[in-house]
Amino acid sequence: MNRAAPVPVLTIDGPSGSGKGTVSRLVAERLGWRMLDSGALYRAIGYAAGMADLDLSDAEAMTRCAQTTKIRFHPSADGHDTHIFVNGHDATDELRTETAGAAASAIASIPSVRQALVELQLSFRKAPGLVADGRDMGTVIFPDAPFKVFLTASAAERARRRHKQLKEKGLKVTLTDLQREIEARDARDASRTVAPLKPAPDAVLLDTTGMPIEDVVANVLTVVQR
Ligand code: DC
Repeated sequence: MNRAAPVPVLTIDGPSGSGKGTVSRLVAERLGWRMLDSGALYRAIGYAAGMADLDLSDAEAMTRCAQTTKIRFHPSADGHDTHIFVNGHDATDELRTETAGAAASAIASIPSVRQALVELQLSFRKAPGLVADGRDMGTVIFPDAPFKVFLTASAAERARRRHKQLKEKGLKVTLTDLQREIEARDARDASRTVAPLKPAPDAVLLDTTGMPIEDVVANVLTVVQR
């Protein structure tokens, strides 16, 4: 008997500012596949915890928060952006800030919070395919993914990219502060014991320092089309 082939997944992992978000969106558009922005889930839990005035270091409270927070992704009217609703509130702008990133990184080191988000992440795997962006997509959530990429870039370049993105969104932050925050966040994400930021053994490594986004997209597409 012939079993149906599993839905293909392309995992794109890497540190903050490596271009994962933009590249994942463009690659998903080209392939006509769905997208999972797993970082947004951790950001959403951090945001919900903040709204409820909970202590981010309280593992039990964070786990309950991860189990009960309702997160919905909605395409914007023009179809080029996604709005993220947390417990019914459009939190898209709040979730983009570095404060939200730092809160997400802190709670993401709690194993039971990560566990609470597994089912939701797996539910994104639907035909015709999924592009999943995060830190542990290729190592923990979709270890059987046929296509895996790990993006890197120098810390200075990643800070510059994030700075440009935040400025375009009207958020004020200095480049020096941003580079320091990004380095601290990456160090925490890479050194945690559960699902640390690291390439899967079978991932294609791509250093995007100085590489135009279109070239990064083309390189990632060759991994899928190989
Ligand atoms: O990709 P991002 O910057 O939106 O992620 C925010 C934080 O969430 C990141 O610093 C670590 C955490 N995260 C994680 O631990 N695992 C993922 N798969 C995605 C994000």
